[in-house]
Order: sequence, then C-alpha cells, then structure tokens
Amino acid sequence: MIHRLRTPSLLSASSLSKEEVEFLFRAAHLFLEAFQRNEIPPLLVGKTISQLFFENSTRTRLAFETAIRKLGGAALTFTPNNSSLAKGESLLDTLKNLEALKPDAFIVRHSASGAALHLSRFTSRPIINAGDGTHEHPSQALLDAFTLEKKWGRFEGKTIVIVGDILHSRVARSNTRLLRTLGAHVIHCGPASLVPPLSSNLGAHEVTHSLDQVLDKADAVLCLRIQRERQNSPVIPSLSEFAHGYGLTAARAQRLKKDAWILHPGPVNRGVEITPEVADGARSLILEQVTHGVAMRMAILSALLNPGGLWRFLNPTSDINPIERTL
Ligand code: CP
Repeated sequence: MIHRLRTPSLLSASSLSKEEVEFLFRAAHLFLEAFQRNEIPPLLVGKTISQLFFENSTRTRLAFETAIRKLGGAALTFTPNNSSLAKGESLLDTLKNLEALKPDAFIVRHSASGAALHLSRFTSRPIINAGDGTHEHPSQALLDAFTLEKKWGRFEGKTIVIVGDILHSRVARSNTRLLRTLGAHVIHCGPASLVPPLSSNLGAHEVTHSLDQVLDKADAVLCLRIQRERQNSPVIPSLSEFAHGYGLTAARAQRLKKDAWILHPGPVNRGVEITPEVADGARSLILEQVTHGVAMRMAILSALLNPGGLWRFLNPTSDINPIERTL
C-alpha cells in the first residue's frame, strides 16, 4: 500500500496510478466521515493556499476553500477582475508576486489548456489544477469516481456513459482517463460535432451518437452541459434539438438499469442536458458529488502538503510513521 502521491503537484488525472487513486479514496472516506461529524483533523494548520481562479467557479473554488479552512489552513483567493492584471501585469509576473507572499501551494483554474502545467514550471510550490481549458479537471474526476466508488466498491464490469459536449469538456477527459485506470468501461455519447472519434486519444472504449441505444448498458450516466464559453462557433443547431437527442429526460431515465446512477459535475442547465425531475430525482448524485468534493479536496491537499499527518490520520493506532521516517 502506498503512503503518498508520487508527484508534488496534481496536474492531471491521467498521471495518477490506480494505487494513488485508491489511496485518495481511502483518505476521502475518512475525511467524509470526519466532515459529517465535524471532527476534521487540523492537518493544514500554518499552511496558506493561494487560489488563482482566472475563470468562474462555484463548486470547485468553494469546496477547496471549505476543505482548506476545515483542515485549519488559510485560503487566499486571487480574483483577476480586481487585480493588477487589469493594469497589464502578466500571468507569470502575477505568479511570481504571489509566490513572494510565501504560500504553501497554488490552486489554479484557467481558460487555457495547459495553464497549470505551464505555471508549474515557474514555481517551486505545488500546483493543483482546478480546471484548465478543455484539458483536465483532476479533482472533479476524483470526486466523481469517489462518489461511484462509495456506491459500487469496484469499477470492473461497470459501464459509464458520458453524454453531451465531450469535445470541449475537461471533465470528460479527466473522468475517461481515471475511470479507465480504475477498470471501468467508458462510452462517449453526443452529436458528431461534440464527440471526438474513437481514434482520438481521449480513451473511450466506445463512441456513439445515439443515447437511446446505450441507455440499457449504463451503470452510471455522467451528463455534461454544452460549454458555449469554449466554442468558437455554433456546433449544434439549437439547444432544444440537443435536448431532444441527448437530454436525460424522465422517459430516458426509466429505461436505465434499476440501479443505475446519474451524475453531473455542475453547473446544470435544467431542461437541456437533464430535466429537473431527473436532476432532483432519487438516482441523482449531483449534490452528493458536491459534498464528496470537499472530502476529496481534503484528501488531495493533505496528501500533497502534509503526507505525514495524513498517514497518522489514516493509521491512528500505528507507532511507526514511514513518511516522517523518510522526511
Ligand atoms: N464542476 C465544476 O467545476 O463546477 P464549477 O465551475 O462551479 O467550479
């Protein structure tokens, strides 16, 4: 069993081994129980984490912030709109100046694919990728998989249909890679203009343009919204046509297996990729995903910033701490 992550930063889901993902699941399980009891161990006391969100966010930013504060750390949030970026300061100069404030890590969201990796080359601090363009959103994929792992325990033999705007979705990329690592079967579904071909390197096992044909195969459906902010020109005739072909309606949900689950990373466009009764229905895990996002971010932050403390939290009765022996 591993005791820590191999890399100082979390830039992508594809870089995680199965053992690392299972290590984070184990930590997230314990953090979730501690979160529900409101007995979070103070593993980030004395640590400051700088949150650089160059793109809008509700869930990711606030889940990270909740995790940091509950673990006893301090969250510094940089907001580009009222920063000196407006006066012409560059992204790299901004990073260097924020680094001079001595944070222990950066959490970065940016509209450019590769932004987190790029910034990681100019700082010695760990970087957590909170979503970079159409590339990756590793903490989202980890919390989505954690949500399914709580239901299933294992991924072998499970089929997940990811439906919607896969072409522009970092959530689809990270989830596909992570679910494959865990042994699940992944199907991409959507109109041809929004689904890369099977030969692309996204890693789906199957691609289909008919949701109706794969509903009965799915153990879980992950719905994605149309990401108009990342489309240069219209790629579907209209939202209502998209909803007609690919929206998860009550009628379609009825054709799923009885124990199939429904996920959505948010924000939800009700009536487009999913109807309100399905989003709010008994099989929807949408709000559980949000709560699990706090526990998973606690696991990620502790693993990167206090692996010795995390080991003690995971092994409370052990006298030997292999992390502290090697630090
Ligand atoms: N799932 C997700 O990334 O949501 P936000 O954009 O609100 O952070």
